Amino acid sequence: MARACGKIILLGEHAVVYGFPAIAAGIERGAEARAWPSTASRLVVGDHTARPDDGSELGRAYRALLEALDVHDVAVEVSLELPPGCGLGASASVAVATARAVLQATGASEPDQARLLAAAQAWEGIFHGNPSGIDATTAALGGCLRFVRGRGAEPLCLGQALAIAVAIAGPPASTRAMVEAVARLRKTRPSHVEDIFQGIARLVDRAREPLASGAFDLLGQLMDQNQDFLVELGVSTPAMDEACADARKAGALGAKLTGSGGGGAIIALVEPPVEPVLSAWKARGLACFVTVVSAPSAP
Ligand code: MEV
Repeated sequence: MARACGKIILLGEHAVVYGFPAIAAGIERGAEARAWPSTASRLVVGDHTARPDDGSELGRAYRALLEALDVHDVAVEVSLELPPGCGLGASASVAVATARAVLQATGASEPDQARLLAAAQAWEGIFHGNPSGIDATTAALGGCLRFVRGRGAEPLCLGQALAIAVAIAGPPASTRAMVEAVARLRKTRPSHVEDIFQGIARLVDRAREPLASGAFDLLGQLMDQNQDFLVELGVSTPAMDEACADARKAGALGAKLTGSGGGGAIIALVEPPVEPVLSAWKARGLACFVTVVSAPSAP
């Protein structure tokens, strides 16, 4: 059995596609995979079965992953603990868990992180077009990390574990479509979008200290400001904005969408008790849960 975690983005989605820094964290829910040698290569994810040569998106992603690992003739079964297309890194967690299981089944002695990431990134490219790599990297490493495209991840120390409430505030959205929408806006209003990205990067820089010290009031404010930028980019939705407002009213320190937006998940930084935030969302009929991010503390 092999596992990989899902992810949330605390700060920096979309800007990260263009080389600006972002902060992400692994969450307990993710994917679990089992693989075994088989001449009938296939991948089963829940109700979906794909073969490397069947032409489906899942089949093409599986094929890209196997080619990157230089492995043939393997069957994989995956159970996914996250809703797909909701900004929680479901696709990357399936990719990393699958790659880990395939390497185990084919007797790879050392889990080679670079190979694993290359395989997960090849998979993500099929689904998302031009992903930054933040989802695959977080699924592989977990913890809380600062990520810059092309430069990889730096683990961040947390002064205190982060309690994050997650709500599904709308139907799934296509990451590819949302990234393309931002690319179009960037083409028509380059300096406006550049200012937004620079603003988001400043929030990321300011987050290091409150993460390390546990000053989560400030971290919550940075998340709120990031959400304002995401609204300006046009990737939030009224339902996501309302769910963020509900969370803040119920005592959350900050709230924002996570991932590409257009629907899917929002996150709220909470301090116990978390029930008021969850109750506010449940009153709106939103599915929600709490996840805790712990990471090595400062030496
Ligand atoms: C997706 O989780 C986050 C985006 O920034 C896309 C990417 O980084 O590839 C929207």
